[in-house]
Amino acid sequence: MMETELTIVILAAGLGTRMKSAKAKVLHSAGGQTLIEHVVDTALQLTVPERVFVVVGHQAEQVRKTLAARGVQFIEQAEQKGTGHALMVGREALAAMPGKLVVLYGDCPLISADTLRQLIRLQRESAVAGAMITARLEDPTGYGRVLTDAAGCVQAIVEQRAATSEQLLVKEINSGIYCFSAAEFWAHIGQIRPDNPAKEYYLTDIVEILGSAGRRVRFMRVDDPAEVLGINNRIELAQVDALFRGRKVEELMLAGVTIEKPETVTIDSGVEIGMDTVIEPFARILGSTTIGEECVIGACSILRDSRLGRGVLVGPFTSIHGSRLEDYAHAGPYARLRQSAHVETGAHVGNFVELKKTRLGAGSKAMHLAYLGDSDIGQGVNIGAGTITCNYDGVKKHATTIADGAFIGSNSTLVAPVEIGESAYLGAGSVITHDVPPEALGIGRSRQVNKEGWARKRRVLTGNR
Ligand code: UD1
Ligand code: CA
Repeated sequence: MMETELTIVILAAGLGTRMKSAKAKVLHSAGGQTLIEHVVDTALQLTVPERVFVVVGHQAEQVRKTLAARGVQFIEQAEQKGTGHALMVGREALAAMPGKLVVLYGDCPLISADTLRQLIRLQRESAVAGAMITARLEDPTGYGRVLTDAAGCVQAIVEQRAATSEQLLVKEINSGIYCFSAAEFWAHIGQIRPDNPAKEYYLTDIVEILGSAGRRVRFMRVDDPAEVLGINNRIELAQVDALFRGRKVEELMLAGVTIEKPETVTIDSGVEIGMDTVIEPFARILGSTTIGEECVIGACSILRDSRLGRGVLVGPFTSIHGSRLEDYAHAGPYARLRQSAHVETGAHVGNFVELKKTRLGAGSKAMHLAYLGDSDIGQGVNIGAGTITCNYDGVKKHATTIADGAFIGSNSTLVAPVEIGESAYLGAGSVITHDVPPEALGIGRSRQVNKEGWARKRRVLTGNR
């Protein structure tokens, strides 16, 4: 369900000093996506892109680029003077938007759309100026502490740096996620002052400001504090990554995928895997990869942005990037497929075989130790061990074509551009520099010579026995 009249602002302008990085914090990845993409995608489950605003500052250009496809709006916060200031700079664009205003932090990517819907409902039904999400943490260090009253309302939020030793004992923490009545929020935001040790405009001060105007802010505590984990350093980044991975493998297992030692595999959120497929330990399945039913993905294999049909077998230690394997194809162990390699139905790619920009036709086999680049290989072709396509002359790449039913003898060197005709044979160890017609035998090597008695003569000459 989409909310009507809902504006969502995502704060993402900070550098994130505690990350110790040249890269803005929200551009770091967890669960296979940048933090800001996770938050924006959640926001887009609740409202239209025209009403999702991302406040950018540090590396604004990269953040804009990362989000370009999503069609959301941007607000520039050139100088980062605090979370309250981040909203103040957007006042002109945002205050014109009636209804509700939800604030999210770009470094808090695990929040779910369902929890946000509950928050919005709480704000609406209790008719308060604002509602916010809290959690109880055994170790609340670093978070703002939420001071509440008996009526379930928030009196104030105090930041770690400004809290008294008594306030530091409070375990109720501020998630940084709020839903306000937009009109009331904009009527009061101007009253935030940078009167704290950090000299920043704290958004959290709005609670007390609304309080002194006789308006209330309610809180909603989430049962699972993981949902509101904010990322400030790389330890927290790794924790959040593990949570995303855990969610993904559980979702897949419940949908009928066998995952051996699930704690060892890495599967990005955009990956799709069919029923009865088996994923062996330490596999990494990344990006937009889709895998059909009844496949096996061998231990330690890495698949990225690739498409596998049904019943595909990928042996251990295989790397597949931007490639396609059709039904019942095999690859690996120790194979490498990249740049639009295309293994058709039932074709086999064996150990230490590399395919680059190459089609291997249905039922064809390249079982051992080969490099096949910029090649179009037909159906039922046998590629012997050690076959190499010399596709690069030092300046340009050239194509190799091998027609249906051809037999390429072991250790052949095909110097491209070259064409091997249908059902042709190549003698083992050939260097092929000219096209071979259909049904022909191509041999490109010097003849073998046996010199009778050569070894005996040599012994006599050298005086050796
Ligand atoms: C903030 C809250 C704290 C809460 C915690 C939850 C305040 C003052 N404190 O603290 O109560 O417990 O989040 O994770 O709000 N940002 C801007 N512009 C700025 C400053 C920050 O866009 O000028 C963005 C950052 O990029 C970040 C988010 O706001 O995505 C939060 O900022 P951060 O500095 O991490 O706040 P915390 O210290 O974690
Ligand atoms: Ca934070």
